[in-house]
Amino acid sequence: MEPYYVTTPIYYVNSTPHIGHAYTTIAADILARHQRQRGRDTFFLTGVDEHASKVARVAAEQGLAPQEYADRIEGVWRELPARLLAENDFFIRTSDDGHKRFVQDFLQRIRDNGRDDIYQDVYAGLYCVGCEAFKTEADLVDGLCPEHDREPEWIEETNWFFRLSAYQGRLLQLYDARPDFVLPRFRANEARSFIEGGLQDFSISRAGQPWGIPIPWDPDQVAYVWADALVNYLSALTYAREGEDLRERYWPSVRHLLAKDILRFHCVYWPALLLAAGYDVPHQLFVHGWLLLDDRKISKSRGNIVDPLDLIDLYGADAVRFWCARSVSFGQDGSASVDGLRDRYERELGNDLGNLLSRTTAMVARYRDGELRAVPDPASDVARLVGPLGADVADRLDAYDITGSLERVWEVVRGLNRHVEASAPWQLAKDAEREQELDRVLYDLVDGLRVVAVALHAFLPAASEQILAALRVSPDVSWAGVAYGLTGTASKIEAAAPLFPRLDVQTA
Ligand code: MSP
Repeated sequence: MEPYYVTTPIYYVNSTPHIGHAYTTIAADILARHQRQRGRDTFFLTGVDEHASKVARVAAEQGLAPQEYADRIEGVWRELPARLLAENDFFIRTSDDGHKRFVQDFLQRIRDNGRDDIYQDVYAGLYCVGCEAFKTEADLVDGLCPEHDREPEWIEETNWFFRLSAYQGRLLQLYDARPDFVLPRFRANEARSFIEGGLQDFSISRAGQPWGIPIPWDPDQVAYVWADALVNYLSALTYAREGEDLRERYWPSVRHLLAKDILRFHCVYWPALLLAAGYDVPHQLFVHGWLLLDDRKISKSRGNIVDPLDLIDLYGADAVRFWCARSVSFGQDGSASVDGLRDRYERELGNDLGNLLSRTTAMVARYRDGELRAVPDPASDVARLVGPLGADVADRLDAYDITGSLERVWEVVRGLNRHVEASAPWQLAKDAEREQELDRVLYDLVDGLRVVAVALHAFLPAASEQILAALRVSPDVSWAGVAYGLTGTASKIEAAAPLFPRLDVQTA
């Protein structure tokens, strides 16, 4: 099986983490955890983008050197994946020496490629510091950058340019040859039309900036922040593991996750830079929509930041992951609300899943003194219910359908709840002649819940572990476990504590 390398964008170190950033990190972690469950060699990268001009500006305002300032603020970003229970394999900082060295080598390779892809010219035009991007009049609304409601600055300086225009043909060929290069398809079409519209060369350096990676052949200039940041996906592989170069193992088996705001950089500039430097282009890019809060993009400049750490304190990481995965179909724009989070916490996590575990374990404890007899029946309703789950979820996650795969697991959760009602174990327990029937029902509920717990590991890692522990079954979450009838006898099952306790109790 080909290795699986998944990345999030590297987040601007000087911005405040909000739920929109957490969204991509959660999605990447769901995909990575799932692939690891399937035994695939997986690498998950996230980190911070430090060389934005904003960093130098704010540092100067605070009387600090840019590096000192970045060192002080990077911690919240490093903490974010851990708090979300995201298991990234490496956290890159673009101020890492390994990254800086690699970027210099990367740019030098382009300069030396014999095609004159890098040349000097005067850049004169508009620049939005918010986007860290050059703008044309057509990008502006009433003279302002629509993303940041801010007037771009006029910049005129001699820079080094990358001959992007020369790559139009090769990029179009790439999009034609690989219809799944960018997903969803409508995003590939968007990138393709942009390429077809004609590509402008772009400046890859900035003059007179104190903060950034020096251009190797002209140290008075530093690399433009995007020409530095994109390269992280490759540079990290060269020094993430001491003494090892992971490029051979993971490049180009990479899946880049990103939101639509940075589509052009990733789907057009990045493959062109790679081709110019003599590297393979990425395996795939998945462009998701914006997570909207009350229909507005969540962002610092719009003042509707939802601090993911506050939400985790209140609801737990699992609930935040669940809400992000479930509220908006992954790939589309959509709205989420904190009320919606509370609602899903109570209704779906507390009632559907939590109560199912509480009832099941309480019944085994009460009617069987905590001892479960192993009586699988491959023809049972529960066997039929969980039978296709493993393949269905795996197929959906291979296609980045995070929302659909979670819904598929939830169908089984709802099916098990219906099974409790329909089989009414409390009635069976009253009738000594129906002992075997009761054993069968209890077995199917425990086994069904075990399957659900393994299938939920990528989405709700903490709850998954708690369910397996409460059922006194193996903590192993290998994907082969998403199959009916693998529970053996279990003993000492006790009525489980609530998985998702009532919030008034939790927050009191
Ligand atoms: N530093 C650049 C990326 C360089 S990658 C080589 C950058 N950083 S950022 O901090 O602005 O983060 C952008 C990414 O954060 C988006 O692509 C997306 O993954 C995530 N999101 C930020 N706001 C979001 C929403 N409101 N909704 C969904 N994702 C969001 O751009």
